[in-house]
Amino acid sequence: MASQSPPHQPIGIFDSGVGGLSVLRAIRKQLPQEHVLYLADQAHIPYGTRQKTEIRDFAFGITAFLLAKGAKLIVVACNTASAAALHELRARFPQVPFVGMEPAVKPAASLTQTGRVGVLATPTTFAGDLYAALVDRFAQGIEIYKDTCPGLVEQIEHGKLDTPATRAILEKALTPMLAENVDTIVLGCTHYPFVIPLIEAITGPDVRTIDPAPAIARQTARLLDQHGWLNPAKARGRLQFYTSADPASLEALLPRLLGETGSVTQVAWSGLQLEIVTAD
Ligand code: DGL
Repeated sequence: MASQSPPHQPIGIFDSGVGGLSVLRAIRKQLPQEHVLYLADQAHIPYGTRQKTEIRDFAFGITAFLLAKGAKLIVVACNTASAAALHELRARFPQVPFVGMEPAVKPAASLTQTGRVGVLATPTTFAGDLYAALVDRFAQGIEIYKDTCPGLVEQIEHGKLDTPATRAILEKALTPMLAENVDTIVLGCTHYPFVIPLIEAITGPDVRTIDPAPAIARQTARLLDQHGWLNPAKARGRLQFYTSADPASLEALLPRLLGETGSVTQVAWSGLQLEIVTAD
């Protein structure tokens, strides 16, 4: 693939697990003709409680792997990895366009009527400079209520989108926010859009939930267009998945989370590098 011209090369997307599929879903809608390589670093999930330096090393290794497979642009479909590594990724791979994620504090601050916003994200995302800068710039005069939803990423990884345990985690996070009259909830982790129905069942119809995935898909399209790298093909692009854990579990979840199937290849970490385990 690396020998093809950029328009025909794939987009590379990565996350610690299935969360980035919420971003891929939006990218498939916006850019159906693009080929995509999706890497889930499920051997290391969750990222959200790990040290930044460790996540940076994972992000470097994953990006190098996706570029070696011919990726023309990288979507860091993970708020935690973006918080920990986006800046350093851009410095280390200056020729590569990156799209990163940040909690949608800016749109939430302009949409809220009550001036009270809830943000759900991982501890590492909240601890990062990116989040602090967002709040500083865009949330002056807005009250923000945060929750890290412990265990929610793992529930979603196991496809438990609507179980009593998943509901209990969300109720614990959202009930105090609702008591404070929050009217907007920011999903600052790419896993969380998969539980929007449950979130909305808890919050009721007067609270808005912001899923950033469509905006990320539009930004991806804009960047590709700027480079002249949009795939001009009419046919639907191919999807290729990689996981550093069990390919069968990821494959089984794809129809439910993405609405499509795809072949999953196992990769393994060898030091700070990823290598294919099964035949590509
Ligand atoms: N999906 C990742 C994010 O957007 C976090 C999941 C994890 O903690 O591994 O932050």
